Amino acid sequence: MIQFLLNDEVIQTGLPSGTTLLDFIRYEKNLTGTKIGCREGDCGACTILVGDIQNNKLVYSNATSCLMAIGNAHLKHIVTIEGINIAEQTLVQKSFTDFNATQCGFCTPGFVVSLTGACVSGKVQTANDATDAMNGNICRCTGYKSIQRAAASIAANYKIFPDNLLEGAVEQHIIPSYFLTVESRLKKMRATAQPHPQQSNSGLKLAGGTDLYVQQHERMVQEHPQLLATQDALRFIRQEGNTCTLGAATTVSDMASSPVFQQHFDKLDAWIKLVSSTSIRNMATIAGNFVNASPIGDLSVFFLSLDTRLLLTDGTSERMLPLRSFYKGYKTLNWMPGEYIQSISFELPHPESRFNFEKVCKRTHLDIASVNSAMHIHVQDGIVQHCSISAGGVNPVPSYLTRSSKSLEGKPLTGDSVRAMLQLVQEEIAPISDARGSATYKRLLLQQLITAHFNQLFPDFDLI
Ligand SMILES: Cc1cc2nc3c(=O)[nH]c(=O)nc-3n(C[C@H](O)[C@H](O)[C@H](O)COP(=O)(O)OP(=O)(O)OC[C@H]3O[C@@H](n4cnc5c(N)ncnc54)[C@H](O)[C@@H]3O)c2cc1C
Ligand code: FES
Ligand code: FES
Repeated sequence: MIQFLLNDEVIQTGLPSGTTLLDFIRYEKNLTGTKIGCREGDCGACTILVGDIQNNKLVYSNATSCLMAIGNAHLKHIVTIEGINIAEQTLVQKSFTDFNATQCGFCTPGFVVSLTGACVSGKVQTANDATDAMNGNICRCTGYKSIQRAAASIAANYKIFPDNLLEGAVEQHIIPSYFLTVESRLKKMRATAQPHPQQSNSGLKLAGGTDLYVQQHERMVQEHPQLLATQDALRFIRQEGNTCTLGAATTVSDMASSPVFQQHFDKLDAWIKLVSSTSIRNMATIAGNFVNASPIGDLSVFFLSLDTRLLLTDGTSERMLPLRSFYKGYKTLNWMPGEYIQSISFELPHPESRFNFEKVCKRTHLDIASVNSAMHIHVQDGIVQHCSISAGGVNPVPSYLTRSSKSLEGKPLTGDSVRAMLQLVQEEIAPISDARGSATYKRLLLQQLITAHFNQLFPDFDLI
C-alpha cells in the first residue's frame, strides 16, 4: 500500500506505483488546479510541492507531477495549489494579481506553487532568488516582466525565519496552518509503514523518473517498478579521506547543495544551473543520468573526467566498474543480469588540481547540450601530472578521451603540447550531423570547449 499526505488528507492506495501523481491528483482526486501541459517536464504547469523528512527535518522542494511516480510519493507530503489555499488570497497569490502576472491563468498555479515552495524553504532572499525559483515554469501569454515584478515584491516583503521556516510562512499568509502538523504526521507514518510499497516483477528500476516517463510513459503508468528514490539508504553523499561516495538515489539538487561538492568545485552553482530546471533537478538522480546513457548526459560527462567508479550489485554480489568502462555502444551498457548501481565514488580533486565543465546548447538554460566537456588537470612546476578530458555529443556515448588526455601527461604545459592534444581529440571523436548541429560544427565546438577549459583554468597563460 502506498501511503502519503495529499494536502491535508491521508492517502492509502493500491494503484500501480508507476501511476503518475498528475493523473492521480486530477483524475482520482479531482484536484484540477494542477494543469497538464507538455507531460514531459518542460512547462511546469503540473508543479507540486514535495515535503520529505530529511535529517529528521521536514523540507519542501518543487517537482513536476507529470514525471513523478505515485510510488515516489510514499511517506511524503504532496501539495497541490488547492493545498496552499487559505481563506483570503495567500501573499504569493496576491502578488500575482497585484502585478497582473496572470492572464489566461493556465500556467499560474505552477508559478504560484514554485514561488510558495521557495518561501517555505527560505530561498527568496533576493528578487533573483525568487525569479529563479520559477525557472521550470513557462508562461505563454502574460510576459515574464510582470511575473518577475510579483516575485520581486515577495522577496522584498517576505521575512525569512531560518529556524522557523514553516511558522514564519503560516504567519505571513504563505501557507495554511495545517502545514505545522505535517512533520509529526509524516514521522508517525514513517514509523508504522513499510518503506518500499511495491517490488517490481519486471525488474524495472525507477529513480527520479525524469527520463523514464518521457521515453516510456505508456509502459510506466501500468508498472510496479522497483523504487530506488524512496530508499533512504541509497540517498547520501559521504566523504571518507579524499574519496567521495554518493548513493544511487542522490539527486542533482542534493549534489548542488552538498558542502563536499561546494567545497571542491568552485563554480558548481553556475554549472548546475546549466542542467535542466530546479524542479527536474529535485527529482533527477546522477545514477539515472549515467544509465540513461545519453551521449550528451551532463552528469555522465562531468563524472567521467573524475575517474568515477560504480558499485554495481545484483542484490547478492557486488563489483566495482569504472564509469569509463560502463558504456559499450549507443545505449548499450556493461551490465551483468539483474545488476543496478548501488553507489558512485570518485577521488575529490587534489587541492592543486583544477576542474572545469563547459556546455553549449541552442539556448543557455533549460536545454540539452549540443556538445559538453569536462577537464580535470593537475600541473606541477609547469609539467602536467594528470589530465582527464571527457566530452559529450561527439560520439555515440558520453566519452572519456583516453589518448588525448594521456598525451599531455609528463609534458610541459605549453601552447605546442595543447595544440598537439587538440589534434588528437579530433581523431578520438566521430560526431554526426543532427538537429543540434553539423558534424563539422560539433568538431569545432569541442575544440573551442577544450580551449575554454584552459582559458578558465590557466587565465595567466597564453596556451593556444
Ligand atoms: C525537462 C527535462 C530537462 C532535462 N535536462 C537535462 C539536462 O540539461 N542535462 C541532462 O544531462 N539531462 C537532462 N534531462 C534528463 C534527465 O533529467 C537526467 O538524465 C536524469 O539524471 C535522469 O535521472 P532519473 O533519476 O530521473 O532517471 P529515471 O528516469 O528514473 O531512470 C533513467 C534510467 O536509469 C535507470 N536507473 C536509474 N537509476 C538506476 C540505478 N541506480 N541502477 C540502475 N538503473 C538505474 C532506469 O531504469 C532508467 O532506465 C532532462 C530531462 C527532462 C525531463
Ligand atoms: S505537464 Fe509540463 S511539466 Fe508537467
Ligand atoms: S497566463 Fe497564460 S500561459 Fe501564463
